[in-house]
Amino acid sequence: MRSIAVTNAKGGVGKSTTAINMAAALVELDRRVLLIDADPSGNAALGFFPRGTPSVGLADALLEGSGLVEVASRSDYEGLDVVPPGDRLSTCSDQMGGVQGLGQGREFRIRRLLKGLTGYDVVIIDTSPVLTPLNVAILYAVSEILIPIDPCIAALAGVRALEDLVRTVSEFRLEFTDAGPLEITGVLITRVDRTLVSKQIEAEVRNYFGPIVHERVVPASVKFREAYARGVPLIHYDRMSPAASAYREAAFTFLNGGVRPDAVDPRRSIEPDEAETVEDVDPYYREAS
Ligand SMILES: Nc1ncnc2c1ncn2[C@@H]1O[C@H](COP(=O)(O)OP(=O)(O)O)[C@@H](O)[C@H]1O
Ligand SMILES: [Mg+2]
Repeated sequence: MRSIAVTNAKGGVGKSTTAINMAAALVELDRRVLLIDADPSGNAALGFFPRGTPSVGLADALLEGSGLVEVASRSDYEGLDVVPPGDRLSTCSDQMGGVQGLGQGREFRIRRLLKGLTGYDVVIIDTSPVLTPLNVAILYAVSEILIPIDPCIAALAGVRALEDLVRTVSEFRLEFTDAGPLEITGVLITRVDRTLVSKQIEAEVRNYFGPIVHERVVPASVKFREAYARGVPLIHYDRMSPAASAYREAAFTFLNGGVRPDAVDPRRSIEPDEAETVEDVDPYYREAS
């Protein structure tokens, strides 16, 4: 089971949108996916339950020690389950300890929940932009990070702080847990438009992060808001759009380790005769590109 946190210290960069659409695209590729919404505002969960998310969720698993499966809800898509934040998440994510907070050993709470989890191929965790103990605990739990970046001024400034945190957590993980290092395995440039600023920042991000940046960018599109309001992932709402293709390609690349041709892990690959290229798995790829 691979676990990935979608994170960036900036709000509005497309974290929740990326979590929703990556989850949906991975399900299209026959993976069983659990999407955990670890942002108290519940934006990712609302993308599947637009009329309101269940009040029980991640907070209850953290506070009561129940398993994630017990607080997961089925989405309309076979193979995709969602853990909503739960009504109490804002209280428990900000507090360091005590009866309402994450308590002793808080860094490892999420890690323990993920360890006991079976039945999924990929766990995607959507995070809030605030540096809470919960977000740190998520970094102790997952093995990978996906950073969505929207190309506007100062996009890289916030990301550098995040990188420092990732490095620190990674060192602690190696020293104190059986977890391997924490890796930023993908950077996805989202909300790209035709402005010069967008082009310049995209070039800057590529120059800074190198091959882990997904080749395909997610263009800005008003369809995202429409899709979200209807509780449908964009890849299903606007199936043929370049934005849908970009998310499908990101999911494919995630599974195949293609963003880093130098570091492909064969255990992560799908069978070569199953699919060779994104064209084989994405019937819309050619039309949309
Ligand atoms: N590629 C895109 N083009 C246009 N709007 C987008 C795009 N991605 C996300 N949005 C919209 O931008 C807003 C913020 O996105 P969201 O995913 O909630 O960001 P975050 O989780 O980082 O705060 C939402 O209204 C969402 O529908
Ligand atoms: Mg969000």
